[in-house]
Parts: sequence; C-alpha cells; structure tokens
Amino acid sequence: MRTLRTQVVVVGAGPAGLYLSHELRAHGVDSVIVERCSREHLERRVRAGLLEEGTVQLLRGSGLADRLDRQGLVHDGFQLRFEDTVQRISTVSLIGEPTYIYGQQEVVKDLLAARPSDDGSLYFDALDVQIAGITGDKPSVAFTVGGEHVVVEADFIAGCDGYHGVSRASIPTASLAFHTRRYPFDWIGLLVNAAPFASELVYSVHPRGFALASMRTPEVSRLYLQADARDEQSNWPHERIWDELGQRLYVDEGRMRARGAILEQVRVPLRATVAEPMQFGRLFLVGDAAHIFPPTAAKGLNVALEDSSVLAHALIGWFRRGEAGPLEGYSSARLPAVWRAQDFSAWLTWLFHPAADATAFDHRRRTASLTRLAEGGSSAVAFADEYVGRSRRRLSSLSYIHELDGMEA
Ligand code: FAD
Ligand code: DHB
Repeated sequence: MRTLRTQVVVVGAGPAGLYLSHELRAHGVDSVIVERCSREHLERRVRAGLLEEGTVQLLRGSGLADRLDRQGLVHDGFQLRFEDTVQRISTVSLIGEPTYIYGQQEVVKDLLAARPSDDGSLYFDALDVQIAGITGDKPSVAFTVGGEHVVVEADFIAGCDGYHGVSRASIPTASLAFHTRRYPFDWIGLLVNAAPFASELVYSVHPRGFALASMRTPEVSRLYLQADARDEQSNWPHERIWDELGQRLYVDEGRMRARGAILEQVRVPLRATVAEPMQFGRLFLVGDAAHIFPPTAAKGLNVALEDSSVLAHALIGWFRRGEAGPLEGYSSARLPAVWRAQDFSAWLTWLFHPAADATAFDHRRRTASLTRLAEGGSSAVAFADEYVGRSRRRLSSLSYIHELDGMEA
C-alpha cells in the first residue's frame, strides 16, 4: 500500500476535474486526480459540442484556447425550422455574442496536453475508488491501480466524477436534497462522417418530434432526434432514423439518406438533477456530479467549467490567503446559476419537444411561441441572453462577489 499527500484530491478527469486541477496548479495549489477510465477512452468520448462565450473566455484566460481559437467554429446564430419555414436567430445581432462549436473531447485533450506528463499527479484506470473522512480535516481517497492499493490524503476533495460517480453517494442522504426530473423524451445522437447539414446549427421542431443538426468539424456532422422515452432502441433501425431526420428537418428523405456513414450512435435520456447543497464537510461537488441538464440548451459542460472556476478561486483563496468565506459559500454561490440554467433548459425542452399525446391545439400554440422568438423582439433578446449564457454569467459573478463581500464585511 502507498500513501500520498496532496492539497486537493480531484475525483474524475472529465472537463470539470481537469480544469479545476489546471487552475489550482497555475496558482500554486497541488492536486492529484483519480480517474476510473483510461486516457484513450476520455480522449475519444464524444459528448458536448457547444461552448458559450464565457466558457471560451475561461479557457483563453487559462492559456488553454490556442487550438480552440484555430479549429473551433464560431457561430453568429442558428437556424430555427418549424412549419416548413426556415428562420434565422442571430445571437450576435441580438446581444453581440456568438457561440462556438468545439468537441468536449477536444477540450479534454487540450487540458491533458497542458499537464506535465508523468509527474504522478493523475491516475487513470483507478479501480474501487472510495472517499473517506469528509467530515474531518484530513479526508482521503483510496483506490487500486495496477494491482497496488493507493491512499491519497488531502485537505479537500473535489467530486468531479459525473452523474454515476462515488462523490455524491458519499454524502449522507439526510444531508443532501437530490432534486430530479425525468423528461418523457430521449435523444438519439449520431456522429456522421459527412459535411454538416448547414453552415450553422439547425434546431427543427416538427409535429413528429424535434431534430437538431449540429457538427463537430467541417467533415463531421452531429445529429440528434427526439424519441419517446418508452420507445425501445430496437424500434429505431437506421432507415427509420434517416427517414425521421429527413421529415423533421423538412428535407426530402433521399437527401438525408446520402448524408454519410454513422460513426457512433448514442441514446441520451433527457433528465435534470440538482444536488443541494453542492458541498458537505470537506467534499465539494462540481459539474455533472452536482447537476445534470437535459441537453437541449447545451448547458452541462458550460456550467461545469463555471463551477470549477468558482471552486478553484475559493480553494486558492484558502491556501494562499487563509480565506474560508468563498469555500463556505461555494454552494450558495453556484446554486442560483445552476437553477437558472435548469429553468432555461426545461423551458426549451418543453418548447422544442412535442409530447406523444400532443394535440393540434398544442402544435398551434408551439408555433405561436416559435414565431414570437423568430420575430426578433424582446422575447428573442431574452432568449439569446439565456442561450449564450450571458444572463447566467452575470448572476454567477454577482453571487461570487457577493460571497466575498459578505466575508470581508
Ligand atoms: P464527466 O464529463 O462526466 O466527467 C466525469 C469523470 O469522472 C469521467 O471521466 C468519469 O470516467 C469519471 N468517474 C466517474 N466515476 C468515477 C469514480 N468512481 N472514480 C473516479 N472517476 C470517476 N454540455 C454542453 O455544455 N454543451 C453541449 O453541447 C452538450 N451536449 C451534450 C450532448 C450529449 C449527447 C450529452 C450526453 C451531454 C451533453 N452536454 C453538453 C453535457 C456535458 O457533456 C456534461 O455536462 C459534461 O461532460 C460534464 O463534465 P464533468 O467533468 O462534470 O463530468
Ligand atoms: C450540441 C448539443 C446541444 O444540446 C445543442 O443545443 C447544440 C449542440 C452538440 O452536441 O453539438
């Protein structure tokens, strides 16, 4: 058995854990990351794709955006299709902010590449990861790697291990409210070896269901379509998927069929969760470990990196200046922003996804709502503010500054 000592143990090397560790190191705070999967798996795992301006600014500020600035796709807006019409919503025209398309696994690759190699601060393939001592001042994380049992003792633990991780499960249920919502929809997600369907994202609302045509690179498309949560995947052969995509995106079936080879297919249940509070004793929950958003509004990765940034500042304040306030206030600083993103994601999910029992009344009403958005008035401005994350960002920094003010008063 080996026992190590560090300042912060980070459980999980997804974007949240890697970014937190990067920021800590940049400010002289040591951390060790413990990750269940292999590096190859993390670098290949296709998930998010849409980054908000605030996220890009965070990455730029940390010196992590060279490749993103060269290869990322900057989008001034997106297409909204409904009732056989194509509308364009330009977030740049409405509020002056674009969005960016850059795959989550590329963010992960950049974060991994920025770490010193083999300095012993990142364990991949860790088995049987267990958290102990979070109510004391010497918490630890134990695991087995390459047959060896390792214990890392620290001052704090950052639980960045996603929805299925051990961190949230280590908090006594009586001390945690875990709010959940399962929407009655799933997404079928495809990665397709073909040029993007359009130059910008296409969100398409059809009485048959929602479809989203996104992209990863000028050569690779990312397509999503709504499926009823009860409709088994075996009912979705490729032929039906292409047929539905064609109809829902308002193009003829023949054209969709020509789009390219399916490289990967996933089924994503649309759900929302929020853990309250996001901290217990010396354990802090970050990113998907604390909250899941339905993917409709693309908030998960963006809010996760924002959590990491706020927690990094709080931990740096503790180690460098002996400040306790920002750490104590981490959860109350983050929850308003988390609920803000949850609210917008829920609103957009219901707006875009017709329910299985939707009536003609429901379709007409949805069309009226979409028309209001497409008109570009104050509704569109408010929408753009939420979609690009600007309103949440304002709220986040206000909460954070508020906590600091509270401490200094
Ligand atoms: P994860 O990425 O889940 O990382 C957690 C890490 O912890 C993983 O590497 C995991 O292997 C590791 N781990 C788990 N258990 C353990 C354990 N016991 N011990 C050690 N390590 C462990 N978000 C957006 O912002 N924009 C989008 O466009 C977008 N699109 C999406 C599309 C889809 C189809 C899906 C599924 C999600 C999408 N999201 C999007 C959400 C986004 O992918 C997540 O919110 C993001 O991955 C959160 O990062 P994280 O680091 O918190 O968690
Ligand atoms: C992507 C996912 C989303 O949920 C979204 O709203 C936009 C883009 C994507 O994976 O590309």
